[in-house]
Amino acid sequence: MCGIVGYVGSRDAAPLLMEGLARLEYRGYDSAGLAIHDGKEIGIRRAPGKLRVLSRLLERKPLSGTLGIGHTRWATHGRPSEENAHPHRAGRVVVVHNGILENHSELRQRLEKKGRRFTSQTDTEVFAHLIDEELGRKPLEEAVRRALRYVRGTYALAVLCADQPDRIVATKNASPLVVGLCQNENLVASDVPAILEHTRKFVFIEDGELALVQAGRVKIQTPDGKPVRRRSRHIGWSPLMAEKGGHKHFMHKEIHEQPRALADTLTGRVLRDSADVHLDSVKLRVRDLKNLSRIVIVACGTSWHAGLVGKFLIERFARIPVEVDLASEFRYRGPILSDRDLVVAISQSGETADTLAAVREARKLGARVLCICNVMDSGIPRTSDHVLYTHAGPEIGVASTKAFVTQMAALFLLAVRLGRARKTLSEKEARKQLAALAAAPEHIERILKNEPHIQEIARAFHTTKAFLFIARGINYPIALEGALKLKEISYIHAEGYPAGEMKHGPIALIEKDVAVVAVATKNSTYEKVLSNLSEVRARDGQVIAICNQRDKKIETYSPHLLPVPATLDTVEPLLTILPLQLLAYHIANFNGTDVDQPRNLAKSVTVE
Ligand code: G6P
Repeated sequence: MCGIVGYVGSRDAAPLLMEGLARLEYRGYDSAGLAIHDGKEIGIRRAPGKLRVLSRLLERKPLSGTLGIGHTRWATHGRPSEENAHPHRAGRVVVVHNGILENHSELRQRLEKKGRRFTSQTDTEVFAHLIDEELGRKPLEEAVRRALRYVRGTYALAVLCADQPDRIVATKNASPLVVGLCQNENLVASDVPAILEHTRKFVFIEDGELALVQAGRVKIQTPDGKPVRRRSRHIGWSPLMAEKGGHKHFMHKEIHEQPRALADTLTGRVLRDSADVHLDSVKLRVRDLKNLSRIVIVACGTSWHAGLVGKFLIERFARIPVEVDLASEFRYRGPILSDRDLVVAISQSGETADTLAAVREARKLGARVLCICNVMDSGIPRTSDHVLYTHAGPEIGVASTKAFVTQMAALFLLAVRLGRARKTLSEKEARKQLAALAAAPEHIERILKNEPHIQEIARAFHTTKAFLFIARGINYPIALEGALKLKEISYIHAEGYPAGEMKHGPIALIEKDVAVVAVATKNSTYEKVLSNLSEVRARDGQVIAICNQRDKKIETYSPHLLPVPATLDTVEPLLTILPLQLLAYHIANFNGTDVDQPRNLAKSVTVE
């Protein structure tokens, strides 16, 4: 998500850290900051906006010293502003952090009761206070280790201490962290490209480990303080490859980031051991939720597909009628809305012109608007009454992948909250649903491991002229999204259809050069999808099926199977989309198209 760079050695740290941060700029950020130790004390400079704003600040108020940490922030908790930018200081401790602390609110309350004063709205500041509380006369690494006992969540953390001017202590859980090894100087970073210019020798830190980084040595320890021996790796990546984390394309990297993006979106919201969710920043009262008469979802492109999944979930859990509209159609139809309607706008970028216009129209007509968005403080959140942020992190590939999965997860959470508030979802059922949702990141990891097999199917089909994607129920939007992914990046004609509609038209297209991709998981519509597949087979069409593992029956319909783990039908779309993203990606890659920037398409469509 955000970017971290740290340096300890004999060179002037500030320019070096600024260069490192500049190499992470491509990922997107909304504020930046540096902390430099001059041997006596730690100076901090922070600024909202681009790095050049921070540069100008450093020209006016320079920092010098040979030890420092820097950060580019992509806002999640607290808007982009100087006080929310990292580094954060508490007493003698200064920290930068990537990720999300799940239990930051309760920790903050506890620390405030002890008299600790907070100066930002971030979850990160909690870390700084916790470490400072533990510090006493201990080495910094010991204080960090003790502080970590209290926190839950995802993090990569780099820490300085005012009276230990020879060290950076870094640690991680789920967010990436690397140490770069040099002669008499060492570096830490969240991502290889930040420091690739200085070294090719890297040590990748594992979850829970703690790295003590000094100019002359690097010590890595397990969570309980035992030394870790890990050989460094030589990274031969070009700077461009490094930006993509060694992946050939951003889209591929982003597909692989989905377990983390999903976990980050759920973190702190699925209440542990409870049957409800906490939606930070959605201030709708239970009374408001009970009185809703209708929900209208508006969005464009992939976000609209997430909205279609959302309809299924909200109607199932909360028993409220849901309409899903394309934002570009919505406002020209003279929509009928009242103050008992809730409009849910979904947008990755938060800047899509049609969705923004739909939000304005809805508010003008008296409806309340809740948006689901990935970019903090962008136009749509600023124009809405309530915001539920997805925490996918910056998405660079034009074809949306991780944003889609996190949008569906956000809608799932909203549906559960509505269902609990309206008493249409029992405690037992909510618990079951949330447990299945929480298991989804692990299931996605398993699907990703099957990539070589998906690649082989892509190889076999990459010259196929046309594809039909079919599915039923909650997976129908996944058929639409699978077709969209393929056509966007490979330029092959692909259509998504509800399987039951096949005989009302698309069946006329079926012949041996047409591939039919079907979602045929073992849910209530399984048998019906199988009979659609028989119709395809009878006309010599080729079948690729997304199915459950160890499904013997489906083998008689197709040799081309893409298995996903079995789960509740409500959670299925979070899994069934994965093989389709990878199938589209590998077909496009075999055909040599520009995967990350397909022709004629833009990541953010800010014109009508
Ligand atoms: C463009 C992008 C799509 C995206 C759509 C809506 O077409 O290429 O990936 O789904 O806009 O964008 P939004 O940012 O509002 O989700």
